Amino acid sequence: MEIRSPKSESEFVAYYELRWRVLRMPWGQPSGSERDELDAAATHVAGFDEVKRLVCVGRLHAVETGVGQVRYMAVEESLRGLGLGQAVLDELERLAKRQGISVIVLDARESAVGFYRRNGYEAVGEGHVLFDEVRHSKMKKKF
Ligand SMILES: CC(C)(COP(=O)(O)OP(=O)(O)OC[C@H]1O[C@@H](n2cnc3c(N)ncnc32)[C@H](O)[C@@H]1OP(=O)(O)O)[C@@H](O)C(=O)NCCC(=O)NCCS
Repeated sequence: MEIRSPKSESEFVAYYELRWRVLRMPWGQPSGSERDELDAAATHVAGFDEVKRLVCVGRLHAVETGVGQVRYMAVEESLRGLGLGQAVLDELERLAKRQGISVIVLDARESAVGFYRRNGYEAVGEGHVLFDEVRHSKMKKKF
């Protein structure tokens, strides 16, 4: 597994496609709804398997000085529980530290809270409810 930022246009197409397929498509959201205005300046990380297929993604963006936010973590469904999400998060945290970020905040889907807890994030409050059904918890980690 190769964990790095996507580079070429086709890698970015695959990057956003996986983000959409995991985080938006199941709720009937159209292609394009997986993107936001912060993507242009954000840090993107993806994992590529041995045949260079993109199988996991995650994004970091700056919120304010020293504070970053992780969003859009997604692993191909058939490959969950194998350490891929961990590898993406580790790389995002490594890049965050390099950017002078010492605090990461995120809104975790309830189903993913355990994953972030295991990585040292603590719940700091209730977050938003996406598409009327996906509850989130606000979480935070200080390096
Ligand atoms: C959440 C997600 C990114 C985690 O990625 P993953 O590749 O499945 O997780 P990993 O295999 O890297 O897990 C790393 C560790 O976290 C644990 N873990 C993973 N998901 C967990 C969960 N939902 N609850 C509790 N622990 C979890 C694993 O057991 C593993 O611990 P271990 O090393 O002690 O065995 C992935 O399951 C996913 O894409 N889910 C759907 C989309 C989603 O909810 N994204 C997050 C939006 S906030």
